[in-house]
Amino acid sequence: MLRAFMPHMVYEETFMSIAIIGGSGLTKLEGLEITHRQMLHTPYGNTSSPIIHGKYYGKSVIFLARHGAQHTIPPHKINYRANIWSLKELGVKDVIAIAAVGGIHPDMQSKDLVIPHQLIDYTWSREHTFFTDDLSHVTHIDFTHPYCENLRAQLLSAAKTIALKVHPQGVYGATQGPRLETAAEINRMEKEGCDLVGMTGMPEAALARELEMCYAACAVVVNPAAGRGSAEITMSEIEANLIDGILSVRQLLVELIREY
Ligand code: HPA
Repeated sequence: MLRAFMPHMVYEETFMSIAIIGGSGLTKLEGLEITHRQMLHTPYGNTSSPIIHGKYYGKSVIFLARHGAQHTIPPHKINYRANIWSLKELGVKDVIAIAAVGGIHPDMQSKDLVIPHQLIDYTWSREHTFFTDDLSHVTHIDFTHPYCENLRAQLLSAAKTIALKVHPQGVYGATQGPRLETAAEINRMEKEGCDLVGMTGMPEAALARELEMCYAACAVVVNPAAGRGSAEITMSEIEANLIDGILSVRQLLVELIREY
């Protein structure tokens, strides 16, 4: 079916089955023995950064830096469709998305990792679907459970093996950004059931589902959400928490791939 959209394009089929999308603080996957870099041009434009192919603890892994190799693309400018499309074209079955978030739930403190199980989409005006043109019929994907349970279970199992504390579930609220939220917006999001707030979870998750890939996220809390901390949110606070949080993410990814 995918070929029908882009018969003119010939992609190298590598049949890698797992990809890691790195977010803020994870523009490189340390320990990945890179075999090659590939810039893919899709019907939707270019990916955020070259696709990195390599071996990670003996397994073939693809890595993609969501915000660009130099972390220059803000959340609302990311070409989510090109990123997800290219992973599908490369034969990826499972996608692990790493994302920095603000903590809304009082238990979700800075540096904590959360494996979300649900999401609410507050983004707007992003290219959010592949199902717009050349449709032979209207398609509505089932998105009742936006994250792949199987992949979530693998992340939780890896965390257990290495005795790494992770919150096994949480509701991710995806906001438009790039500004942070107001305290009133966070109060509203909390009332609506959000535990975490981030800017990149959508449309990424839905696009992966449209292309029938298994998608799960690992969120790193880097600040208390607006109005939840005692002081204003600063970039230096976010960056400092990100450094520690990403250390835990790396440990989790190593074990996940070992067990994969
Ligand atoms: N809000 C939205 N996105 C974020 C935040 C936040 O507080 N922290 C990190 N990403």
